[in-house]
Amino acid sequence: MNIQTIMVIGAGQMGSGIAQVCAMAGYSVYLHDLKEEFVEKGMNIVHKNLSRQVEKGRMTEEEKGAVLDRLTASTELKNAEKCDLIIEAVVENMEVKTNLFKILDEFAPEHAILASNTSSLPITEIAAATKRPEKVIGMHFMNPVPVMKLVEIIRGLQTADEVYETIEAVSRKLSKVPVEVNDFPGFISNRILMPMINEAIFAVYEGVATPEAVDEIMKLGMNHPMGPLTLADFIGLDTCLYIMETLHEGFGDDKYRPCPLLRKYVKAGWLGKKSGKGFYDYQAN
Ligand code: CAA
Ligand code: NAD
Repeated sequence: MNIQTIMVIGAGQMGSGIAQVCAMAGYSVYLHDLKEEFVEKGMNIVHKNLSRQVEKGRMTEEEKGAVLDRLTASTELKNAEKCDLIIEAVVENMEVKTNLFKILDEFAPEHAILASNTSSLPITEIAAATKRPEKVIGMHFMNPVPVMKLVEIIRGLQTADEVYETIEAVSRKLSKVPVEVNDFPGFISNRILMPMINEAIFAVYEGVATPEAVDEIMKLGMNHPMGPLTLADFIGLDTCLYIMETLHEGFGDDKYRPCPLLRKYVKAGWLGKKSGKGFYDYQAN
């Protein structure tokens, strides 16, 4: 299947990164969000990232201009009419995603693939909200998208082989490494990563150690680039909580129960780096 135009829905930290790598790979890209100010925020992230590439001599001003020319801001879902691939990266909530996929199914051309960047939600259930379940697939990028090599590709129960192969080829064109998994809660990445983060939060909750000590131990002792609590703040504590809830509900196993401290922080609006406060303070940044 020939993919030329891509729509990325949700201009947050993931959507902006996905739009950037798609435009850098030569695709025409619509970056869509609910309000113009949200799209603008995402566009600014892309501008900043590209300017850094220019400063470092990895890209010329002309190349940067060409990438930006391939990016179009969107607040109209109707733009999906012009797209071959739509990559959804909105909030990690099944109701929001299924409502969106129902609308996209109406607007997108018949041949278009609908992909979700969900961290944990069942692709099969998202696909069931559409009349084209064979063209729905998980395309799970890692944060920060411009840096991380992996795209975890999740086959829904009815995903067609041709659709899988197209998404694998697009991922390679984005200079990413695709890895195939089946559709179970949290897939592989977050089934393994998020219980570790949740356990780190339990260790703080139970007073075993401070967040700084937990992070230092995992960085220096296990060579992790970031400690689990810094990483949780980086991912977004709301996203971490949604993922733990999906694992808990999906497997029905209490080993996945979200730590009460994680719930408390999210209720307080402490969402990590994006809100200025989580396990650490980011107000000065
Ligand atoms: N966007 C774009 N580029 C970024 C970036 C961002 N947000 N953050 C860092 N970079 C770039 C920097 O510009 C720098 O580029 P160059 O080497 O080309 O100059 C490079 O990344 C390294 O950055 P720094 O030197 O500033 O910092 P660092 O060496 O500590 O690396 C990091 C930063 C890459 C984020 C590193 O700390 C890391 O790998 N952390 C772990 C990230 C991780 O685990 N991601 C997965 C999260 S889980 C997930 O995504 C799935 C989910 O569903 C929740
Ligand atoms: P974010 O909060 O930074 O951004 C979400 C964006 O979606 C916001 O700009 C919001 O305005 C927009 N949005 C919400 N509802 C919308 C709708 N109905 N239509 C259009 N836009 C809408 O979140 P994020 O961290 O970018 O996460 C987005 C998705 O990517 C989630 O499903 C998350 O689980 C997944 N994900 C996150 C990470 C991570 O590390 N944060 C990594 C991989 C995957």
